[in-house]
Amino acid sequence: MTIPIEVVDNITAAAVCAPSGDNSQPWCVEVNSTSIRLWVDRCRADSLSDVGRALTAIACGAAVENMVIRASTLGYRASVILCSDRESPDLVCVVELTPADPCASELDDAIPRRCTNRRLFRFRPVSRTLLDGVKGEAEVISGSQLLWMDTREKRSAALRLLRLAERERFRWKPLHRELFKSIRFDVGWHLTAEEGLPPGALEVEIPFRPIFVALRHWSVMRLLNGIGAWRFLGWRVADLPCRFAPALGLLTVRSPDCFFEGGRSLQRLWLKATAAGLAMQPFAAAGILPLQLRTSAPAVPEDVLRELRDRLAALSDGGTGVAFVRLGWAGVPSVRSGRRNPRSFVLPR
Ligand SMILES: Cc1cc2nc3c(=O)[nH]c(=O)nc-3n(C[C@H](O)[C@H](O)[C@H](O)COP(=O)(O)O)c2cc1C
Repeated sequence: MTIPIEVVDNITAAAVCAPSGDNSQPWCVEVNSTSIRLWVDRCRADSLSDVGRALTAIACGAAVENMVIRASTLGYRASVILCSDRESPDLVCVVELTPADPCASELDDAIPRRCTNRRLFRFRPVSRTLLDGVKGEAEVISGSQLLWMDTREKRSAALRLLRLAERERFRWKPLHRELFKSIRFDVGWHLTAEEGLPPGALEVEIPFRPIFVALRHWSVMRLLNGIGAWRFLGWRVADLPCRFAPALGLLTVRSPDCFFEGGRSLQRLWLKATAAGLAMQPFAAAGILPLQLRTSAPAVPEDVLRELRDRLAALSDGGTGVAFVRLGWAGVPSVRSGRRNPRSFVLPR
């Protein structure tokens, strides 16, 4: 049975709402009569930080989870078949659709509302029931675990790791270039961008904005790093927001080959949190940077990477750390990241 085109369009539109590192949207789809094939978009993947395409795998996992959830609402069962064909290394998976009973869910309602919220959160606790619900949703994806950093020791070890990881992005020229290249200064502080990060979404306080804009020049960053700007930024970007967040979690997967599943799990927990009215921000550097150890020319010195890897492993309970997430209560983001037109994700037949 051929799936109607409006159903395929609707499922693709849901996938487009999914998050991606630096809003890179590194995938595209090929639509057949009963299935959707998800491909890596080479022009948007393979950044310096995307070692082994881990960031791309997470983004693809999140997009596919949206497809599965939307398909279920529309009355289709979506079976995800992962591909590891050496001949087509860019083919991520095939999502096969078969008719089923429609099943609406709060996760589906949350798909268009989910967003990254980088505001500082309010000092209001999140109930155990809500946290259990979010954790349960993350762990629907087999092999994924959401570990709460809920003891003083774990929280402080996590904060230290987050600080150490995030600050490296301001310390080394290639990572700095990559980070600032993704920020769309051209749209100003009040508008969104359909690709990349609109500056307004970063919630930089108004007095700091001129300095932040100047930091995009490596010469300025390097000069200020001489007086410890990279350390300060690690604290401001990660430690401060996570220190005062009511909940801080670490998402883990079974092995380093499971970042796609990590993306599916990240998306489920994010949708569950959104449905409950919670704000959320992921932090990927601690999980992603240590992967540089696999490359022949890492962008960060190996002793720093080894320290990050070991600190992450100590918190990961035998799993592979993917990303930290902070959750809490906050106002709506000043600006939300936009998306390209869903049609631009569809490969011509
Ligand atoms: C793999 C991955 C890594 C991410 N890493 C970070 C991060 O380290 N810090 C951050 O603030 N946001 C991070 N994000 C959030 C993205 O920047 C965000 O999803 C993207 O800009 C689209 O915005 P939206 O989530 O509001 O739709 C990450 C998202 C994904 C999927």
